[in-house]
Amino acid sequence: MKESITSVLREQRVIEPPKDFSLSAHISSFEEYEKLCRAAQDDPEGYWSKIAAELDWFEPWQKVLEWNYPYAKWFLGGRLNASYNCLDRHLTGWRKNKAAIIWEGEPGESRTLTYQQLHREVCRFANGLKRLGVSSGDRVAIYMPMVPELVIAVLACARIGAVHTVIFGGFAAHAIRDRINDAKAKVVVTADGGYRRGQEIQLKPNVDEALTNCPSVQSVVVFRRTGNQFITMHHGRDCWWHDLLSETDANCPAESLDSEHPLFILYTSGTTGKPKGVLHTTGGYLVGTTITSKWVFDLKDTDTFWCTADIGWITGHSYVVYGPLSNAATVVMYEGAPNWPQPDRFWQIVDKYSVSILYTAPTAIRAFMKWGDEWPSRHSLSSLRLLGTVGEPINPEAWMWYYNVIGKQRCPIVDTWWQTETGAIMLSPLPGATPTVPGSATKPLPGIVPDIVDKQGNSLPDNTGGYLVIRKPWPSMLRTLYGDDERYERQYWNEIPGVYFTGDGARRDERGYYWIMGRVDDVINVAGHRLSTMEIESALVSHPAVAEAAVVDRPDSITGQAIVAFVTLAAGFQPSSELQQDLKDHVCKEIGALARPQEIRFTEALPKTRSGKIMRRLLRDVARGEESLGDTSTLEDISVLARLRDEQE
Ligand code: WT7
Repeated sequence: MKESITSVLREQRVIEPPKDFSLSAHISSFEEYEKLCRAAQDDPEGYWSKIAAELDWFEPWQKVLEWNYPYAKWFLGGRLNASYNCLDRHLTGWRKNKAAIIWEGEPGESRTLTYQQLHREVCRFANGLKRLGVSSGDRVAIYMPMVPELVIAVLACARIGAVHTVIFGGFAAHAIRDRINDAKAKVVVTADGGYRRGQEIQLKPNVDEALTNCPSVQSVVVFRRTGNQFITMHHGRDCWWHDLLSETDANCPAESLDSEHPLFILYTSGTTGKPKGVLHTTGGYLVGTTITSKWVFDLKDTDTFWCTADIGWITGHSYVVYGPLSNAATVVMYEGAPNWPQPDRFWQIVDKYSVSILYTAPTAIRAFMKWGDEWPSRHSLSSLRLLGTVGEPINPEAWMWYYNVIGKQRCPIVDTWWQTETGAIMLSPLPGATPTVPGSATKPLPGIVPDIVDKQGNSLPDNTGGYLVIRKPWPSMLRTLYGDDERYERQYWNEIPGVYFTGDGARRDERGYYWIMGRVDDVINVAGHRLSTMEIESALVSHPAVAEAAVVDRPDSITGQAIVAFVTLAAGFQPSSELQQDLKDHVCKEIGALARPQEIRFTEALPKTRSGKIMRRLLRDVARGEESLGDTSTLEDISVLARLRDEQE
């Protein structure tokens, strides 16, 4: 981290929006952006009303905002439906036959669903859910590969007011079980499998294992993706997607739902082991994702938009599904890995479908850099007009590579900062308006009021590192943590009094540009995936050989951060490289491959303060050190260091 911070401190290149881009952009000058900011500042409720009016409402709202710190309600009394806004309202004119989703499977097949076709499938599946007894307010867990049926399931839930909770397909049984039980899901929608790096990924067996202890689940719907012969269907509980739909009709009116009706729960890692169920509601979330899709990505009817994120993450919810479809955009969706069968798969897809807007993560960009320029150079990238990045700080070197090699210096880059909790993009350039500086997410979108503060909440001067907070409520903010108001208050609103605390450190420079420095809590960001150190530690200690575990991050040139685990062994176990391997596999089994530690280090004791707190800072230093204190499979005597440090304190 230190190296990249120094380099961003020196970063001064300013890249103006290309003139021809600005000419036709939704927001076409910096003055226009500033005007919107002033309007939002002078009359926030009037500003958000005007934006909300871009959606179709069944009933108008009576009141824009009720702010009962720290609980917000937006567009009170208004009634709408997210699925209706993403589908039905596009069917009246020519967009009926516009491609909504262009999908490509990893093995190479492709499917296109027009808005009319997608609408029809969503209605049919919504009726299928009803047949299973799902009604408004019930929770439905969705654990699927990146296939159109995942979007169909999501929008079908929204259509009938069921609350979806999408579980990333890379999560293992234990993680699935925790999420299903926390949400008390009634139905699970899954697939027999999916494809990744040429392999068939097993999904149904993970669900079966998870469901050995999920009392709330009554039915499982299984979509046939791979034709896997070896899965078992549990009589009375499981049914095939195609069987469920065989008798459903395509008529399913969208329910008129209260603006604050819960839309989805999405679990994300916090500072403790237990994942947090971030709750988003209908009206505000849709307002936030619709307007940011339109402005930040400058979405037009002629665009082909590809956000490479999995729908299992918030980026996929907001910028594969709700935001772009609400704007009637054409969305590209790809099932598999970026380097399968070769490292040019992304560029092949951009070329094949004439993608005009590409939104991906710094970790992917750094991997492409490493694989070499010859891969993108094999394909025409001339359809691209805008590039986006999200998930972690982007180092200026990767930014410049993206700009030069992919964008050919023609395409503006939007570095978008936001979180699962914020629902939609908060800090970002507007591509036709904001001059960009590599490494900075630039400025807040109109109506968003961030600040850099100290622990007490006092604003800090320019160029001083501090905590990134948001001072005013915004429509797409999380409403609470599902079933845990107390944790919601404690995690986001009590740490720094009076404001929403993001968990990120940042600074603001003299031109008002924000520079994100990364998490300041016990959250690790590996390849743009958020993991809590405690979550990995509890997975490790559930292994019989482990007595205690401490997990820290270490900088990594591709994934941004990598996981290093320090482990003390239970009596009778000896350090060995087999055990290291075994522990890594165990974490994958418990959480999923995304949490696999890069390194396991055995130690005699963990360094602790006199009050018993693990001294992570010290471990982090050790993990970052070039030299290990010994061979990795042997014991490290960190207790010595700890004693030294402890004596100094
Ligand atoms: C954390 C949120 C919603 C985006 C996907 C991740 C980091 C996100 C940026 C960016 C620097 C970023 C922050 C944030 N982050 N975007 N453009 N520059 N850091 O969502 O899993 O909720 O993680 O990702 O640390 O707090 P998430």
